[in-house]
Amino acid sequence: MTWTPDSWRLKPIRQQPDYPDPDALREVEKELASSPPLVFAGEARRLRGQLGAVARGEAFLLQGGDCAESFAEFHVDTIRDTFKLMLQMAVVLTYAASMPVVKVGRMAGQFAKPRSSNLEVQDGVSLPSYRGDNINGIAFDADARTPDPKRLVKAYYQSALTLNLLRAFAQGGMANLEEVHRWNLEFIKDSPQSERYEILAREIDAAVAFMRAVGITPESVRELRETDFYTSHEALLPGYEEAFIRVDSMSGDHYATSAHMLWIGDRTRQLDGAHVELLRGVENPIGLKCGPSLEPDDLIRLIAVLDPQNDPGRLTLITRHGADDVDRYLPPLIAAVEREGLDVVWSCDPMHGNTIVSSNGYKTRPFERVVAEVRRFFAIHRSMGTHPGGVHIELTGQNVTECTGGATRIGEENLADRYHTHCDPRLNASQSLELAFLIADELKVGAALGA
Ligand code: TRP
Ligand code: MN
Repeated sequence: MTWTPDSWRLKPIRQQPDYPDPDALREVEKELASSPPLVFAGEARRLRGQLGAVARGEAFLLQGGDCAESFAEFHVDTIRDTFKLMLQMAVVLTYAASMPVVKVGRMAGQFAKPRSSNLEVQDGVSLPSYRGDNINGIAFDADARTPDPKRLVKAYYQSALTLNLLRAFAQGGMANLEEVHRWNLEFIKDSPQSERYEILAREIDAAVAFMRAVGITPESVRELRETDFYTSHEALLPGYEEAFIRVDSMSGDHYATSAHMLWIGDRTRQLDGAHVELLRGVENPIGLKCGPSLEPDDLIRLIAVLDPQNDPGRLTLITRHGADDVDRYLPPLIAAVEREGLDVVWSCDPMHGNTIVSSNGYKTRPFERVVAEVRRFFAIHRSMGTHPGGVHIELTGQNVTECTGGATRIGEENLADRYHTHCDPRLNASQSLELAFLIADELKVGAALGA
């Protein structure tokens, strides 16, 4: 069957908003289709190449950011702090494990949310569920909850502004390795992770000073001064994505230009569905979320459609089973992929399978369960001889209290203090850094074992 940017429209589709005025949606999609792309094909190709190194076991993928970006929390400070936190985590991993780290933000386009129910009922009133700021408003009133296509335009502009900042940060000096101390966020300065980080940062200082003495300086070598920071989001809305699919003049191939990498969610990965159809035809690196309901045989069929050339770097399998179930579900998936001789990136999302409701009613994630799933992910891959290629984390550089536990011991009674998320609970800076050190230790063990 031939693929076209709109061939998904003939397929069954899930998780779509019900727009009261379909003509208005078409108008918006037309407007977006004639708007400038956010990223260029060459950048997506470069990321795909770097993910190829991850698939071969030569690099590690760090993907992270908000569960959902929002219009209300769009500030330079939040973007800068999340960026700094990602740099900190990346430098910990790069230095401790002597491995290049591919940095991908869940940023600059991560707005839409799949929901378990189309309707939300409060005090007998039922309204459409909140699906993300690019679709409707979070306030529980009929006006806010009515899907409005103009929100897609606003999300596009916010993505462009976010990406502009990320590019400036990545290339304008902030990512310079001589700045490692400045990435340490003020509010975690007294934590144990922060102290551990300062020790590592001093070692990096010494290394960079030595290189300067021998004539290798950030002024002369781009690698010391800049980093590649990529963007990604879930391609939940094929209509929006279609508007940004463009033909690359260099290769003649189709690329999604709304982000460097897109992924298919666990609820929209039907083999004959619209989301799989949409992404099979673009040449970007793509992700596939793999939850407990994914059978190994179905995974193999999905890979055949999404990555028919078996090109390392094309497909990242983001597994999310939960700390209690990862031992049951992950090994059969790995075994099937190995049996077929397929080259994929294995990444662990330790967030979505570990969500619980606290006794005082907050949706939260116990940090120890997040850690437990990551540890099992590494152990299982090590025992099966495959590369634990990366992690996919919901995090923020803000000082929030959304996940319990960690070295600063956030308890259920603290969740109310700074619970700001628009969707799922995120690791805060201190918890994220703690996780990065733990992953670095796992990678070091792997290197020592030669795995
Ligand atoms: N350019 C290299 C890289 O991105 C080294 C580097 C520069 C770096 N700034 C960084 C690594 C910040 C981690 C974090 O890997
Ligand atoms: Mn989420």
